[in-house]
Amino acid sequence: MESRVFQMIEKEKDRQERNIELIASENFVSENVLRAMGSCLTNKYSEGYPAVREDGCGRKGRYYGGCQFIDEIEEYCCTKWREVFNTDYHVNVQPHCGSQANMAAYLSVLEPGDTILAMSLNNGGHLTHGSPVNFSGRLFDMKFYDVDKNGYIDYDDIGNKIREFKPALVLAGASAYSREIEFDRIRDMIDNSDLNKKPYFMVDMAHIAGLVAAGYHQTPFGKADIITTTTHKTLRGPRGGMIFCTKELAGKVDGAIFPGTQGGPLEHVIAAKAVAAEEACTPEFKEYIGDVVKNCKAMCDEFIRLGYEVVTGGTDNHLFLLDFSNTHPKISGKAVQDELDKHYITLNKNCVPNEKRSPVQTSGVRIGTAAETTKRKTAEDFVMIARKIDSIISNMA
Ligand SMILES: Cc1ncc(COP(=O)(O)O)c(C=O)c1O
Repeated sequence: MESRVFQMIEKEKDRQERNIELIASENFVSENVLRAMGSCLTNKYSEGYPAVREDGCGRKGRYYGGCQFIDEIEEYCCTKWREVFNTDYHVNVQPHCGSQANMAAYLSVLEPGDTILAMSLNNGGHLTHGSPVNFSGRLFDMKFYDVDKNGYIDYDDIGNKIREFKPALVLAGASAYSREIEFDRIRDMIDNSDLNKKPYFMVDMAHIAGLVAAGYHQTPFGKADIITTTTHKTLRGPRGGMIFCTKELAGKVDGAIFPGTQGGPLEHVIAAKAVAAEEACTPEFKEYIGDVVKNCKAMCDEFIRLGYEVVTGGTDNHLFLLDFSNTHPKISGKAVQDELDKHYITLNKNCVPNEKRSPVQTSGVRIGTAAETTKRKTAEDFVMIARKIDSIISNMA
């Protein structure tokens, strides 16, 4: 009997094909990534890790029999991701998602109650960077650094707050920040701080990982102690997470994932992550990310030309934020999101610096070019989409 679910999936497939997808955290995976995810590997339990890890960070092995092929896939996945980022960091590919990667990363080196210094949520940080309704804000003593009056990360504020709060961990990375993050500068601040116990430096590169892989963003490798990422945004892999760390922290990070916060790994997703890593090693992927960045600048420039206010006045990466506070004070980010939905354009409302509205309404939207660039849209196409969005917004005002 054919399940009713497949009819529902068809409808979503049609929506994905028809709509213009501008959600900065989404992408379209390859047929091979889908194939690996829909494979028989979903049937296998494999709690634990391969007994001898290819990077020499050995673990106790698996808790179940029959894992010889699973081990091969997971080891291969680790090897390929280290190749993507040209690093000898240890990697754990088991996190089910970015949020779990972050939870395990914190718990690998911190105790509940410890202080974390992170980017303020209204200015681009993620829920798992200390929201009071998230485990991070409930378990840890969260302090936040801000952006300056132009919307750029305020690095002086980071330095001051390291001295003031003596955090156990400093976190860089964001969900809605359009400029390059200067990891080397934060590393220097930590190294040059006169704290007896230097904070760990963690980078959540979930959004920009594809740019890091392709050389379009400063790398956090060699600077951060722990690096988390999702695999489904600019990396164009399956929905999931990963943690990289220095070799010294390998045992702590692995233990924080299993048995710390997860049970059996999703080996079908790990196989799909390995396929995505193979793809990210290719020259085509580099070219793709180059196009993502070029298209983003072209679209952003067009909005500026049309009179819109862009947070920080531009973009260095795959996304930017429109701020309606001054140009369209009567309309909210939510109203724009809903109206665009009716015209088959998908994006999300977003808080802007000095936000006056609630996170449910917001005064801005976030726009990303990774997904539509996968659909082979060009810079000219993105300029046309900007004009179409402008005409829809103009009719709302
Ligand atoms: C910076 C950042 N970290 C972590 C996450 C969480 O990832 P997930 O939705 O896979 O839990 C996100 C998701 O958007 C993100 O933007």
